[in-house]
Amino acid sequence: MNETKTLRLNADAAGIAQAVDIWQHGGLVALPTETVYGLAADARDDTAVARIYEAKGRPSFNPLIVHVPDMAAAMTYCDFNDDARMLAQAFWPGALTLVLPIKPDAGVSKLVTAGLSTLAIRVPDHALARDALTAFGGPIAAPSANPSGRISPTTADHVMAGLEGRIDAVIDGGACPVGVESTIVSCVGEPVLLRAGGVPAEALAACLGRPLLQSDDPNTPQSPGQLASHYAPVGAVRLNATDVREGETLLGFGNVAADLNLSKSGDLVEAAARLFDCLHQLDQMGAARIAVSPIPNTGLGAAINDRLQRAAAPRD
Ligand code: TXA
Ligand code: MG
Repeated sequence: MNETKTLRLNADAAGIAQAVDIWQHGGLVALPTETVYGLAADARDDTAVARIYEAKGRPSFNPLIVHVPDMAAAMTYCDFNDDARMLAQAFWPGALTLVLPIKPDAGVSKLVTAGLSTLAIRVPDHALARDALTAFGGPIAAPSANPSGRISPTTADHVMAGLEGRIDAVIDGGACPVGVESTIVSCVGEPVLLRAGGVPAEALAACLGRPLLQSDDPNTPQSPGQLASHYAPVGAVRLNATDVREGETLLGFGNVAADLNLSKSGDLVEAAARLFDCLHQLDQMGAARIAVSPIPNTGLGAAINDRLQRAAAPRD
Protein backbone atom coordinates (compact mmCIF):
# COMPACT_ATOMS: atom_id res chain seq x y z
CA MET A 1 0.00 0.00 0.00
CA ASN A 2 1.04 3.63 -0.41
CA GLU A 3 2.84 5.26 2.49
CA THR A 4 0.56 7.84 4.21
CA LYS A 5 1.67 10.60 6.55
CA THR A 6 0.14 9.72 9.92
CA LEU A 7 -0.99 12.85 11.80
CA ARG A 8 -0.88 13.03 15.57
CA LEU A 9 -4.05 14.87 16.64
CA ASN A 10 -4.67 16.61 19.95
CA ALA A 11 -7.27 15.26 22.37
CA ASP A 12 -9.46 18.35 22.07
CA ALA A 13 -12.37 19.73 20.02
CA ALA A 14 -10.07 20.65 17.12
CA GLY A 15 -8.55 17.14 17.07
CA ILE A 16 -12.03 15.57 17.12
CA ALA A 17 -13.14 17.82 14.25
CA GLN A 18 -10.14 16.69 12.18
CA ALA A 19 -10.90 13.04 12.99
CA VAL A 20 -14.55 13.44 11.96
CA ASP A 21 -13.44 15.02 8.68
CA ILE A 22 -11.11 12.08 7.98
CA TRP A 23 -13.86 9.54 8.81
CA GLN A 24 -16.30 11.36 6.51
CA HIS A 25 -13.75 10.94 3.71
CA GLY A 26 -13.29 7.21 4.32
CA GLY A 27 -10.05 7.49 6.28
CA LEU A 28 -8.66 5.75 9.37
CA VAL A 29 -8.09 7.43 12.74
CA ALA A 30 -6.82 5.56 15.79
CA LEU A 31 -8.48 6.77 18.97
CA PRO A 32 -8.16 5.99 22.66
CA THR A 33 -10.84 4.12 24.56
CA GLU A 34 -10.76 3.03 28.21
CA THR A 35 -9.55 -0.44 27.12
CA VAL A 36 -7.04 -0.04 24.25
CA TYR A 37 -6.62 2.26 21.24
CA GLY A 38 -9.02 1.39 18.40
CA LEU A 39 -8.36 1.75 14.67
CA ALA A 40 -11.55 3.54 13.73
CA ALA A 41 -13.48 4.09 10.49
CA ASP A 42 -17.06 4.62 9.32
CA ALA A 43 -18.71 1.20 9.75
CA ARG A 44 -21.09 1.90 6.82
CA ASP A 45 -18.29 2.53 4.32
CA ASP A 46 -17.05 -0.69 2.68
CA THR A 47 -13.85 0.90 1.39
CA ALA A 48 -12.98 2.46 4.74
CA VAL A 49 -13.57 -0.87 6.52
CA ALA A 50 -11.47 -2.68 3.92
CA ARG A 51 -8.67 -0.22 4.69
CA ILE A 52 -8.81 -1.27 8.37
CA TYR A 53 -8.20 -4.91 7.36
CA GLU A 54 -5.42 -3.83 5.00
CA ALA A 55 -3.67 -1.58 7.53
CA LYS A 56 -3.78 -4.33 10.19
CA GLY A 57 -2.97 -7.19 7.84
CA ARG A 58 -6.00 -8.85 9.43
CA PRO A 59 -7.54 -12.08 8.08
CA SER A 60 -10.86 -11.07 6.57
CA PHE A 61 -12.87 -13.71 8.46
CA ASN A 62 -12.30 -11.84 11.70
CA PRO A 63 -15.19 -9.41 12.31
CA LEU A 64 -14.96 -5.98 13.96
CA ILE A 65 -16.62 -4.27 16.95
CA VAL A 66 -18.92 -1.31 16.26
CA HIS A 67 -18.70 1.60 18.72
CA VAL A 68 -21.61 3.91 19.48
CA PRO A 69 -22.08 6.75 21.99
CA ASP A 70 -25.07 5.32 23.89
CA MET A 71 -27.67 2.58 24.31
CA ALA A 72 -30.21 4.37 22.09
CA ALA A 73 -27.78 4.29 19.18
CA ALA A 74 -26.96 0.61 19.83
CA MET A 75 -30.66 -0.28 19.67
CA THR A 76 -30.88 1.06 16.12
CA TYR A 77 -28.37 -1.59 14.95
CA CYS A 78 -29.13 -4.68 17.06
CA ASP A 79 -31.91 -6.66 18.73
CA PHE A 80 -31.57 -6.80 22.52
CA ASN A 81 -33.08 -9.65 24.54
CA ASP A 82 -33.68 -9.25 28.30
CA ASP A 83 -30.18 -10.45 29.28
CA ALA A 84 -28.54 -8.09 26.80
CA ARG A 85 -30.58 -5.16 28.07
CA MET A 86 -29.69 -5.96 31.68
CA LEU A 87 -25.96 -6.24 30.90
CA ALA A 88 -25.94 -3.06 28.81
CA GLN A 89 -27.75 -1.11 31.51
CA ALA A 90 -25.33 -2.33 34.17
CA PHE A 91 -22.02 -2.07 32.27
CA TRP A 92 -22.39 0.58 29.53
CA PRO A 93 -20.59 2.78 29.03
CA GLY A 94 -17.77 0.32 29.69
CA ALA A 95 -15.46 -2.51 28.72
CA LEU A 96 -18.22 -4.90 27.65
CA THR A 97 -18.94 -5.86 24.03
CA LEU A 98 -22.26 -7.57 23.29
CA VAL A 99 -22.69 -9.86 20.27
CA LEU A 100 -26.32 -9.51 19.18
CA PRO A 101 -28.51 -10.25 16.16
CA ILE A 102 -28.00 -7.43 13.65
CA LYS A 103 -31.09 -5.61 12.34
CA PRO A 104 -31.63 -6.19 8.62
CA ASP A 105 -31.63 -2.44 7.91
CA ALA A 106 -28.62 -1.63 10.13
CA GLY A 107 -26.67 -0.32 7.16
CA VAL A 108 -23.37 -1.65 8.50
CA SER A 109 -20.82 -2.91 5.95
CA LYS A 110 -20.77 -6.70 5.48
CA LEU A 111 -17.01 -6.46 5.97
CA VAL A 112 -17.63 -5.44 9.59
CA THR A 113 -19.56 -8.60 10.44
CA ALA A 114 -17.49 -10.78 8.08
CA GLY A 115 -20.76 -12.20 6.80
CA LEU A 116 -22.22 -13.18 10.21
CA SER A 117 -25.83 -12.40 11.15
CA THR A 118 -24.63 -10.91 14.44
CA LEU A 119 -22.92 -7.65 15.33
CA ALA A 120 -20.42 -6.99 18.13
CA ILE A 121 -21.23 -3.61 19.67
CA ARG A 122 -20.14 -1.50 22.62
CA VAL A 123 -20.41 1.94 24.24
CA PRO A 124 -16.91 2.95 25.41
CA ASP A 125 -16.39 4.68 28.76
CA HIS A 126 -13.90 7.31 27.62
CA ALA A 127 -14.78 11.01 27.37
CA LEU A 128 -12.78 11.64 24.20
CA ALA A 129 -14.08 8.51 22.44
CA ARG A 130 -17.64 9.37 23.42
CA ASP A 131 -17.28 12.98 22.21
CA ALA A 132 -15.78 11.79 18.91
CA LEU A 133 -18.59 9.24 18.40
CA THR A 134 -21.23 11.86 19.16
CA ALA A 135 -19.58 14.38 16.82
CA PHE A 136 -19.40 11.80 14.02
CA GLY A 137 -23.00 10.69 14.54
CA GLY A 138 -22.66 7.26 12.93
CA PRO A 139 -21.39 3.76 13.77
CA ILE A 140 -17.61 3.47 14.09
CA ALA A 141 -15.91 0.14 13.45
CA ALA A 142 -12.73 -0.26 15.45
CA PRO A 143 -10.54 -3.25 16.14
CA SER A 144 -7.51 -2.72 18.34
CA ALA A 145 -5.03 -0.43 16.54
CA ASN A 146 -2.18 -2.91 16.15
CA PRO A 147 -0.90 -5.03 13.28
CA SER A 148 -2.87 -8.32 13.35
CA GLY A 149 -1.50 -10.81 15.85
CA ARG A 150 0.69 -8.29 17.65
CA ILE A 151 0.29 -6.60 21.04
CA SER A 152 -2.65 -4.22 21.48
CA PRO A 153 -1.74 -0.53 21.88
CA THR A 154 -2.44 1.38 25.09
CA THR A 155 -0.67 4.62 24.08
CA ALA A 156 -0.47 6.72 20.90
CA ASP A 157 3.25 5.81 20.71
CA HIS A 158 2.32 2.10 20.55
CA VAL A 159 -0.08 2.89 17.69
CA MET A 160 2.63 4.79 15.83
CA ALA A 161 5.18 2.00 16.40
CA GLY A 162 2.87 -0.51 14.67
CA LEU A 163 0.91 1.49 12.11
CA GLU A 164 2.71 4.76 11.28
CA GLY A 165 2.51 5.36 7.53
CA ARG A 166 -0.46 2.97 7.20
CA ILE A 167 -3.23 5.11 8.79
CA ASP A 168 -4.29 8.76 8.48
CA ALA A 169 -4.09 9.86 12.11
CA VAL A 170 -4.00 8.98 15.79
CA ILE A 171 -5.65 11.07 18.50
CA ASP A 172 -3.19 11.21 21.38
CA GLY A 173 -5.35 10.82 24.47
CA GLY A 174 -2.66 9.42 26.76
CA ALA A 175 -2.61 5.93 28.30
CA CYS A 176 -5.75 3.76 28.33
CA PRO A 177 -6.91 3.31 31.95
CA VAL A 178 -8.15 -0.33 31.73
CA GLY A 179 -5.38 -1.65 29.46
CA VAL A 180 -6.96 -4.92 28.27
CA GLU A 181 -9.69 -5.25 25.64
CA SER A 182 -13.38 -5.45 26.41
CA THR A 183 -15.07 -8.60 27.66
CA ILE A 184 -17.12 -10.11 24.80
CA VAL A 185 -20.45 -11.79 25.59
CA SER A 186 -22.78 -13.30 23.00
CA CYS A 187 -26.43 -12.66 23.87
CA VAL A 188 -27.90 -14.28 20.77
CA GLY A 189 -29.34 -17.01 23.02
CA GLU A 190 -28.17 -17.96 26.50
CA PRO A 191 -25.23 -15.59 27.35
CA VAL A 192 -21.82 -17.02 26.38
CA LEU A 193 -18.47 -15.55 27.38
CA LEU A 194 -16.48 -15.28 24.13
CA ARG A 195 -13.49 -13.33 25.45
CA ALA A 196 -12.40 -12.45 28.98
CA GLY A 197 -11.66 -8.74 29.28
CA GLY A 198 -12.04 -5.52 31.21
CA VAL A 199 -15.30 -6.48 32.95
CA PRO A 200 -14.71 -9.59 35.10
CA ALA A 201 -16.96 -12.58 34.36
CA GLU A 202 -17.88 -12.69 38.06
CA ALA A 203 -19.47 -9.22 37.75
CA LEU A 204 -21.49 -10.30 34.71
CA ALA A 205 -22.69 -13.43 36.50
CA ALA A 206 -23.71 -11.37 39.53
CA CYS A 207 -25.75 -9.07 37.28
CA LEU A 208 -27.48 -11.96 35.46
CA GLY A 209 -27.98 -14.01 38.60
CA ARG A 210 -26.35 -17.06 36.94
CA PRO A 211 -22.95 -17.98 35.51
CA LEU A 212 -22.24 -17.41 31.83
CA LEU A 213 -21.66 -20.33 29.48
CA GLN A 214 -17.98 -20.60 28.53
CA SER A 215 -16.55 -20.75 25.06
CA ASP A 216 -13.11 -22.19 25.85
CA ASP A 217 -12.44 -23.91 22.56
CA PRO A 218 -10.04 -21.67 20.61
CA ASN A 219 -11.39 -23.20 17.39
CA THR A 220 -15.02 -22.43 18.07
CA PRO A 221 -16.59 -20.60 15.14
CA GLN A 222 -18.52 -18.39 17.59
CA SER A 223 -15.49 -16.23 18.30
CA PRO A 224 -13.46 -16.09 15.10
CA GLY A 225 -10.96 -13.66 16.57
CA GLN A 226 -9.85 -15.99 19.28
CA LEU A 227 -6.93 -17.44 17.33
CA ALA A 228 -4.63 -19.44 19.59
CA SER A 229 -1.47 -17.45 18.85
CA HIS A 230 -2.22 -13.77 19.31
CA TYR A 231 -1.07 -10.77 21.32
CA ALA A 232 2.46 -11.95 20.75
CA PRO A 233 5.66 -10.16 21.68
CA VAL A 234 8.69 -11.05 19.51
CA GLY A 235 10.30 -13.21 22.23
CA ALA A 236 9.13 -16.72 23.18
CA VAL A 237 6.97 -16.74 26.32
CA ARG A 238 7.03 -19.20 29.26
CA LEU A 239 4.18 -18.89 31.76
CA ASN A 240 3.85 -19.63 35.50
CA ALA A 241 7.60 -19.22 35.94
CA THR A 242 8.73 -19.58 39.54
CA ASP A 243 12.40 -19.47 38.51
CA VAL A 244 14.39 -17.61 35.85
CA ARG A 245 16.44 -19.70 33.45
CA GLU A 246 19.62 -18.79 31.54
CA GLY A 247 18.89 -16.11 28.91
CA GLU A 248 15.36 -15.35 30.13
CA THR A 249 13.92 -11.94 30.97
CA LEU A 250 11.43 -12.08 33.85
CA LEU A 251 8.09 -10.30 33.66
CA GLY A 252 7.17 -10.41 37.32
CA PHE A 253 3.96 -10.14 39.31
CA GLY A 254 4.04 -9.41 43.03
CA ASN A 255 7.05 -9.29 45.29
CA VAL A 256 9.71 -10.87 43.03
CA ALA A 257 13.06 -9.62 41.67
CA ALA A 258 12.15 -9.04 38.02
CA ASP A 259 13.40 -7.10 34.99
CA LEU A 260 9.92 -5.65 34.64
CA ASN A 261 7.00 -6.03 37.06
CA LEU A 262 3.27 -5.95 36.19
CA SER A 263 2.44 -5.00 39.77
CA LYS A 264 4.87 -5.21 42.68
CA SER A 265 1.96 -5.04 45.12
CA GLY A 266 0.12 -7.88 43.31
CA ASP A 267 -2.73 -5.62 42.18
CA LEU A 268 -4.56 -7.16 39.18
CA VAL A 269 -6.07 -3.83 38.07
CA GLU A 270 -2.61 -2.27 37.90
CA ALA A 271 -1.27 -5.39 36.13
CA ALA A 272 -3.99 -5.22 33.45
CA ALA A 273 -3.31 -1.55 32.83
CA ARG A 274 0.44 -2.25 32.45
CA LEU A 275 0.30 -5.58 30.57
CA PHE A 276 0.58 -4.48 26.95
CA ASP A 277 3.02 -1.69 27.78
CA CYS A 278 5.30 -4.23 29.49
CA LEU A 279 5.08 -6.55 26.45
CA HIS A 280 5.96 -3.61 24.18
CA GLN A 281 8.90 -2.78 26.47
CA LEU A 282 10.13 -6.39 26.30
CA ASP A 283 10.15 -6.07 22.48
CA GLN A 284 12.12 -2.84 22.77
CA MET A 285 14.60 -4.49 25.16
CA GLY A 286 15.13 -7.23 22.57
CA ALA A 287 14.04 -9.96 25.01
CA ALA A 288 14.40 -13.28 23.15
CA ARG A 289 12.95 -15.43 25.93
CA ILE A 290 10.39 -14.14 28.39
CA ALA A 291 9.42 -15.84 31.66
CA VAL A 292 6.22 -14.65 33.35
CA SER A 293 5.38 -15.04 37.05
CA PRO A 294 2.16 -16.88 37.97
CA ILE A 295 -0.90 -14.61 38.01
CA PRO A 296 -4.09 -15.45 39.96
CA ASN A 297 -6.98 -16.32 37.64
CA THR A 298 -9.66 -14.29 39.43
CA GLY A 299 -11.18 -10.93 38.41
CA LEU A 300 -9.05 -9.19 35.78
CA GLY A 301 -6.49 -12.01 36.18
CA ALA A 302 -8.63 -14.13 33.81
CA ALA A 303 -8.23 -11.55 31.03
CA ILE A 304 -4.51 -11.14 31.74
CA ASN A 305 -3.93 -14.93 31.67
CA ASP A 306 -6.01 -15.27 28.48
CA ARG A 307 -3.79 -12.72 26.71
CA LEU A 308 -0.59 -14.28 28.09
CA GLN A 309 -1.65 -17.80 27.02
CA ARG A 310 -2.12 -16.50 23.47
CA ALA A 311 1.27 -14.79 23.64
CA ALA A 312 2.79 -18.15 24.71
CA ALA A 313 0.92 -20.33 22.17
CA PRO A 314 2.96 -22.16 19.53
CA ARG A 315 3.40 -19.98 16.45
CA ASP A 316 3.28 -20.94 12.80
O1 TXA B 1 -11.72 -3.20 23.92
C1 TXA B 1 -11.97 -3.58 22.78
O2 TXA B 1 -12.82 -4.43 22.55
C2 TXA B 1 -11.17 -2.92 21.63
C3 TXA B 1 -11.55 -1.44 21.61
C4 TXA B 1 -10.93 -0.72 20.46
O3 TXA B 1 -12.94 -1.31 21.60
N1 TXA B 1 -11.46 -3.56 20.40
C5 TXA B 1 -11.01 -4.82 20.12
O4 TXA B 1 -11.34 -5.24 18.84
O5 TXA B 1 -10.40 -5.51 20.88
P1 TXA B 1 -10.66 -6.48 18.14
O6 TXA B 1 -11.08 -6.39 16.73
O7 TXA B 1 -9.19 -6.50 18.37
O8 TXA B 1 -11.35 -7.72 18.74
C6 TXA B 1 -12.71 -7.95 18.44
C7 TXA B 1 -13.08 -9.36 18.71
C8 TXA B 1 -12.47 -10.32 17.73
O9 TXA B 1 -11.93 -11.40 18.47
C9 TXA B 1 -13.65 -10.77 16.88
O10 TXA B 1 -13.53 -12.07 16.40
C10 TXA B 1 -14.80 -10.64 17.85
O11 TXA B 1 -14.49 -9.48 18.57
N2 TXA B 1 -16.06 -10.43 17.17
C11 TXA B 1 -16.41 -9.37 16.43
N3 TXA B 1 -17.64 -9.54 15.90
C12 TXA B 1 -18.09 -10.73 16.34
C13 TXA B 1 -19.29 -11.47 16.14
N4 TXA B 1 -20.28 -11.01 15.40
N5 TXA B 1 -19.39 -12.66 16.75
C14 TXA B 1 -18.38 -13.14 17.53
N6 TXA B 1 -17.22 -12.50 17.75
C15 TXA B 1 -17.07 -11.31 17.15
MG1 MG C 1 -7.19 -7.04 18.70
